[in-house]
Amino acid sequence: MFELPGKIALAPMAGVTDRAFREICMEFGADCCTTEMVSAKAVEQGNKKTDEYARLSEKEQPAAIQIFGDDPKAMAYCAKNLMRFSPWAIDINMGCPAPKIAASGGGANLMRQPKLCGEIVAAVSGAVSVPVTVKIRKGWDETSVNAVEIAKICEENGAAAITVHGRTRAQMYSGQADYGIIRQVKEAVSIPVIGNGDVKDPQSAQRLFDETGCDMIMVGRAAQGNPWIFRELSAYFGARPYAPPGPAERMAVMREHIARMCAYKGEPLGMKEARKHFAWYLRGLRSAAAFRREAVLMSALSDLDRLIEKVLAENPEE
Ligand SMILES: Cc1cc2nc3c(=O)[nH]c(=O)nc-3n(C[C@H](O)[C@H](O)[C@H](O)COP(=O)(O)O)c2cc1C
Repeated sequence: MFELPGKIALAPMAGVTDRAFREICMEFGADCCTTEMVSAKAVEQGNKKTDEYARLSEKEQPAAIQIFGDDPKAMAYCAKNLMRFSPWAIDINMGCPAPKIAASGGGANLMRQPKLCGEIVAAVSGAVSVPVTVKIRKGWDETSVNAVEIAKICEENGAAAITVHGRTRAQMYSGQADYGIIRQVKEAVSIPVIGNGDVKDPQSAQRLFDETGCDMIMVGRAAQGNPWIFRELSAYFGARPYAPPGPAERMAVMREHIARMCAYKGEPLGMKEARKHFAWYLRGLRSAAAFRREAVLMSALSDLDRLIEKVLAENPEE
């Protein structure tokens, strides 16, 4: 049977898990990662901008490339085309709740068309020789919970593993993830199941494993501004001690993360996108709100360095 590369995965997050952030999370102990979602239609149309979402580096392997769309042929073409970036796997997005993606027919909207889900998985699996995984939600809404049905269809059509985020599309990111549905999927299929939703520390990670029997857990929002969560989780599961980072380490890792964003995207775009990461990295530090306001004006790495000096002056190591 197909084996997952470990116990802890970084979730795909559009606008967050770019190459720089994936590399940092892998260096802190994530066992695999997934790119931001890539539009099958854009790849089919030869849009070169999408290459930047799919480009992978050695430092982040095993990395899956996630694709979205609703046309089996376009999805298969896209997956095949992206093999030039040497992904470890291709992941199919059947969970994105964003109205723009759902309106295009892709993402969570696919869960309302079980037959089409099967056709897409079959087409993509037939087009590439790497494992094809699928990421689904609990269902579209509480009146149409069908994660088990969709997971079985994916398995029958060649999926190597399935990730289940225990929320409906209607819930978006609110409420609590339902671990019961993840357990039901795990009991219904024989391919590995990756559980997802609300992991934020070792206790919640342990609960997700215990309550669902899943083979791997996937961490999303809790990694924002906190790539150390992977060090913390791998220390916990490896029975090793863990010490949270102090302000100096937090700022040094943030500096490295943002420097890589600038290196990969160019400084103007890198610095613009870095503002939200800056805000996340500052959570819990003294005068964070004031520094966040100043960060809006950052446009070069030298601005960031000046701000980091001020942050560290206000937040000495304890
Ligand atoms: C900002 C943001 C962007 C996301 N983008 C994607 C995406 O591109 N593809 C996807 O499958 N899921 C996406 N997700 C969903 C996450 O992968 C994950 O399923 C969800 O956040 C629940 O996990 P968590 O509770 O650990 O955050 C996104 C979530 C967030 C918060």
